Amino acid sequence: MTDRVSFHADRVDSGALDMLVTILDLQVALPGIQRMRRWAHEVLAVTAGERALDIGSGTGSEVAYFAERVGPDGEAVGVDPNPDMVALARKRAEAAGSTARFMDGSVYQLPFPDGIFDAVRCERVYQHLDDPVAATAEIVRVLRPGGRVLLIDSDWYTAITHPGDPAVVQAMSEVMLADTPNPGSGRRLRGYLTAAGCGIDDIGSEAVIWDSVSGAGLFRHMTNQAVERGAVTAEQQERFHLDLEHGFATEDYHLSVTMFAVLAHREFSSSAVSRPPL
Ligand SMILES: C[S@@+](CC[C@H](N)C(=O)[O-])C[C@H]1O[C@@H](n2cnc3c(N)ncnc32)[C@H](O)[C@@H]1O
Repeated sequence: MTDRVSFHADRVDSGALDMLVTILDLQVALPGIQRMRRWAHEVLAVTAGERALDIGSGTGSEVAYFAERVGPDGEAVGVDPNPDMVALARKRAEAAGSTARFMDGSVYQLPFPDGIFDAVRCERVYQHLDDPVAATAEIVRVLRPGGRVLLIDSDWYTAITHPGDPAVVQAMSEVMLADTPNPGSGRRLRGYLTAAGCGIDDIGSEAVIWDSVSGAGLFRHMTNQAVERGAVTAEQQERFHLDLEHGFATEDYHLSVTMFAVLAHREFSSSAVSRPPL
């Protein structure tokens, strides 16, 4: 994994696309993400004829799911600020014969009129946001009154790493937390939505538990960063990875972070918002 890898909108590097896509594909295959998504599908309950939006849509898999649910009378749209990611999502959707559509755009300035969507989701994006409050206000702007919103994000303060020297793990975690704009986003989702005028309907959680393949890459990236910043020595890094490999070989390891999800709805206001064309 290279150190150019970043999902932050201001740090998009077209040379890193393959790596970003590999990360997303590995993550989506993890049972924890699959379980969280199944729950999210159930509670967001998108139905035929609706307009549904996925913000920070990445490789587009959830927009393809929306497209199946809304059918020919509805619309399923994904938005992402990384134009290479949007092109890849479009290509995958076309290859699968999906009606999912993708647009360049940021959660801070969504390219849609007010009140147009019945359902909006945004998964593992808030941790990369500098201004989550502004983002939430913008999400609520594009929702119709009564429309549903589902936010999913990790809370990196809940990460568990075993095995490894606790001092090295701590140093590595501190570098990672400092590099993540909103590392505790998982615990803040309810508050962001409430402050933006939404009513909270449900809360879920699921630990993402990495396997040896996804874990090895992620932790190599994290220790490389820690060495670069001088938080960990190269010797400590190698010792850590030997410990981790031993853990993988003996099935004595645990690498996880907890994701939280909040389902909410835009409250009805006295002034009716019309549903203009997209
Ligand atoms: C960890 S990926 C998650 C992708 C997808 N939601 C998923 O669950 O597989 C984070 C995504 O958020 C996007 N992103 C970053 N900043 C964003 C912003 N300001 N507005 C919308 N999306 C953003 C990135 O380009 C990336 O595709």
